[in-house]
Amino acid sequence: MLRAVNTSGKRARNLILIGFMGTGKTTVGQHVARSLGFRFVDTDKLVVKQTGKPIPKIFEESGEDYFRGLETGVLRQCAEGSGQVISTGGGIVTRAENHPLLHEAGYVIWLKTSPEIIFERVRRNRNRPLLKTADPLQTIRDLLELRKPLYEACADLSITTDHLTMEETCYGVTESARLVLGGDPATE
Ligand code: S3P
Repeated sequence: MLRAVNTSGKRARNLILIGFMGTGKTTVGQHVARSLGFRFVDTDKLVVKQTGKPIPKIFEESGEDYFRGLETGVLRQCAEGSGQVISTGGGIVTRAENHPLLHEAGYVIWLKTSPEIIFERVRRNRNRPLLKTADPLQTIRDLLELRKPLYEACADLSITTDHLTMEETCYGVTESARLVLGGDPATE
């Protein structure tokens, strides 16, 4: 269930959640931030706040590349802070320049979920432009296959959430983060 991917020995400042759409990054991140006494930030929400536009509209008007540029800008800002749980958009790992930013920002946990469970979670949500295809389950499978090595390269730890309740996932994330982050980095 829990697997250390990279062992860097660094003293992390933030906890960063990465993983595909629908893996629970936002819900888990909010709970964990409360448990750790950290601030919760979400790169998607920051992009929406900065542009004043919902994500599907940004994709529609300006395309994915433009969105990725905004996402990198927001990640750069978040990476400068400390004492935060940072929930990221599922495609943040697709830009190579984001990899060192994620590493420098802190301790990176990858929430891993199977395509079938992701599909069940996201099927009624119209907020994910990349899944507006004729066969969204196949799109999820294809994108996950492409992104798996990228998540792997960015993660310090991965947690497979398929057979975990939300509470169990939060517990695993919180306790491993406590071990790595130690005390409250916001006050150090
Ligand atoms: C994306 C995931 C979304 C959002 C955008 C693109 C992706 O975030 O950033 O729609 O490429 O996987 P969530 O993972 O929070 O749904």
